[in-house]
Amino acid sequence: MYPTLVPFFKQRKLQPLYSSIIGYENGHPGLLRINRSADDILRLCNGQNQLEDIVNCLFDTTREDRSILVQYVQEFMEMAEKNKMITYNQYKATTPIILPLSGSAEYWSIDSISIELTEKCPLKCKHCFVEATMDKKIQLSDFLEYKLFSELENISLEQIQLTGGEPMLHPKFWSLLEKSTQLGATVHVFTSGYVFTDELENNLKNFNPKQVFFQVSLDGMHSYHNEFRGASDAFEKSILFIKKVIASGFCVTVATCIDEQSYEEMKELCEFVKRIGVARIRLGGISSQGRALPSEIVVDTAKRIKLKQFQHQLSVEVGSENFSVYFIEDTEKMVKSEYCNNCGIGQVLLNVKANGDINPCLMSEIVIGNLEKSSLQDIQKRFSRTFEKIDFPRLEICQGCDKFTLCENCIVQGMINSEFTDSCAWRIELQKLESLLME
Ligand SMILES: C[S@@+](CC[C@H](N)C(=O)[O-])C[C@H]1O[C@@H](n2cnc3c(N)ncnc32)[C@H](O)[C@@H]1O
Ligand code: SF4
Ligand code: SF4
Repeated sequence: MYPTLVPFFKQRKLQPLYSSIIGYENGHPGLLRINRSADDILRLCNGQNQLEDIVNCLFDTTREDRSILVQYVQEFMEMAEKNKMITYNQYKATTPIILPLSGSAEYWSIDSISIELTEKCPLKCKHCFVEATMDKKIQLSDFLEYKLFSELENISLEQIQLTGGEPMLHPKFWSLLEKSTQLGATVHVFTSGYVFTDELENNLKNFNPKQVFFQVSLDGMHSYHNEFRGASDAFEKSILFIKKVIASGFCVTVATCIDEQSYEEMKELCEFVKRIGVARIRLGGISSQGRALPSEIVVDTAKRIKLKQFQHQLSVEVGSENFSVYFIEDTEKMVKSEYCNNCGIGQVLLNVKANGDINPCLMSEIVIGNLEKSSLQDIQKRFSRTFEKIDFPRLEICQGCDKFTLCENCIVQGMINSEFTDSCAWRIELQKLESLLME
């Protein structure tokens, strides 16, 4: 019998600390991180090797104890078959399956990128970290678009986030969305849902709802949301947008930044958006940056605890099979894993500003290059292994600090909040990062 990689898998990608295999189904990519030995075995599941051949090949390269190798390969195969990564064929394949390879063991290559298409926005949210306004002139230029997308074509991406400012204000928004989908990645549009035209439904017809997802910001019901976002018709317009997008078959997530909302406000919002077909609501805290500072938004542990309580209670009271309430940090911060020392900041994820500046993550204010002058690859070659060395704020380091619930597991929050405390024990990691970036 010949173990054979299932056709779902289309590409391999090397990273400094692991490999990944990337699959596509209905325009929906899936990226599986595996260690090097798993990669070696899966590469040999090319339809032309039997188990014994695989063990022999591994023995030739590693010279490890053969009985240990046999046991390892058998256990791995059981797991791979159970997880539908391989099937067994009775006959030897005439040609071996060889997946195209991208990435490098020397420097990191991104899996996910957020692109701020414009700094313009008609709303005036009190907390906006981009400090977006209609007076801002900067938007992703044709030159930056060309440079960025030419380079992204050669990177196997799992996810692209189109954000801003208000991304739908970019005059080429729909063509940029199309270009993004052509890269094979899942595309998430982060929008206020405040700016759209009568062409919305027509434009949506060109996209696959399994590949394009919308995240619409709603911070409360009418009066709370409108006051927070600085426009008396913000709620009404966003709801209309959500209804149109859902009616066109797309999945909508609502994003809420928890500040002064009461539990009753949030329960009403959850029940309302659930009724109109929103799939989930993601609750997050406010980060002390951008307009949150002059607006004097209090960002403290009490609010973070309130946020966690809201998430739990709302899940129980409003959550259902078709509607989930989740807390960003629970799902999106990849805590130190078998393969990574932190969340992958500056390694597997980067942010591109509308002026071409590159940040190691969407919320980070550190600029590690500009696309006008450098390529993503140059920047990754230069800095990605530096980010790999930075430990994230965790209990062992931050014990006793009253900001821990704000910084927990997040390097960017550590950087922001350490500014507001004299005795940040994690600052040593920040100093390490600063000195490495200067080298
Ligand atoms: C910068 S906006 C851009 C997309 C769009 N204009 C919108 O508001 O959804 C992306 C997300 O960041 C959130 N955001 C803005 N400032 C923030 C801050 N200081 N802390 C945490 N989230 C923030 C917004 O509420 C929104 O959900
Ligand atoms: S958070 Fe979004 S909607 Fe609000 S001002 Fe910033 S870019 Fe505009
Ligand atoms: S301020 Fe510093 S010590 Fe305190 S929790 Fe944040 S990173 Fe840790």
